[in-house]
Amino acid sequence: MNSQKTQDAPSREGITRRKVLIAGGSTLVGATLLGSVFETALGQTKDSPNMQHRGITSKDGGMKPTFLPEAGSTDAVAHSVADNLFWNEQMMEHAKFFVMLMPGPELAGPRRQAEQFQQNFAGQLEKVRAASLDQGNYKNFNRSTIELVKPYADFKHKMRDEQAAGRLQSLVWATFFEHTAREAERFAKRLDQFSRGDTSINMEEAAEFWTIIMGEHADFIAHLLDPEENALIQKAMQTSQGFRQMHKNVPSSKGPVEKAVDDIIDFKTAAEKGIRTGKIRSIIHPTLADHVRREALKAADELRRAA
Ligand SMILES: [Fe+2]
Ligand SMILES: [Fe+2]
Repeated sequence: MNSQKTQDAPSREGITRRKVLIAGGSTLVGATLLGSVFETALGQTKDSPNMQHRGITSKDGGMKPTFLPEAGSTDAVAHSVADNLFWNEQMMEHAKFFVMLMPGPELAGPRRQAEQFQQNFAGQLEKVRAASLDQGNYKNFNRSTIELVKPYADFKHKMRDEQAAGRLQSLVWATFFEHTAREAERFAKRLDQFSRGDTSINMEEAAEFWTIIMGEHADFIAHLLDPEENALIQKAMQTSQGFRQMHKNVPSSKGPVEKAVDDIIDFKTAAEKGIRTGKIRSIIHPTLADHVRREALKAADELRRAA
């Protein structure tokens, strides 16, 4: 069992989409290559009656799989497992980025705090991978995650203010602290909603959240590309503009947002590969490229469910 190691390891190749079905107390896995991480991700317990009809899927591509609830699922347990798998990873990586972008002895203090958060969320990710969540315990688990997320969002807000005021001189933009705080708060809000048994997604809320997130991702990409990558920088900035327009004026139907998200998935997938293989010049860490790619997949999935 090496799920601690797998969290930062590239996913196994050869499966474009894994589907894990749990039915009648047995785990049916859509591929033979399925590793221990997926079994533990589902808290595989063959005898647990609550495992019936519970399911999540994972999408491959890039460095790590993207965990999502099964299409059409309204099961609060499945949604909780999927979001804990997805967002605890993202929270852990935010801290990893902060650590990377807080170099030198003068930033040792905030860097140590960021390292602590990185450990907290790596631990929570391990817990959800190992847990067997069901109707009886998922609310407690969600609460334990929310208790980690809240001080983390406070930390991000505080760091944003410090950076913006010039008191903190890290390489993390105030906007990046803000962006990651917004994701933390949304994560906590969704878990709270699942704990009330509600898995619905409001179209306007989802569109408002994801358009600003996608717009900012495009801006981050634009500002981390090598200045020589002019065409890509222009494209990223245009993409950002498009999302920001939609954020200001959320379209009445979700079609245009879904289309824009699909486009940015293609863009990020190509960017991630180009960065990893040295075809695109940038200071975008491959982990960051893959991080924003997975969030775009999550955006597309939520918009698909939204009503
Ligand atoms: Fe993120
Ligand atoms: Fe993000």
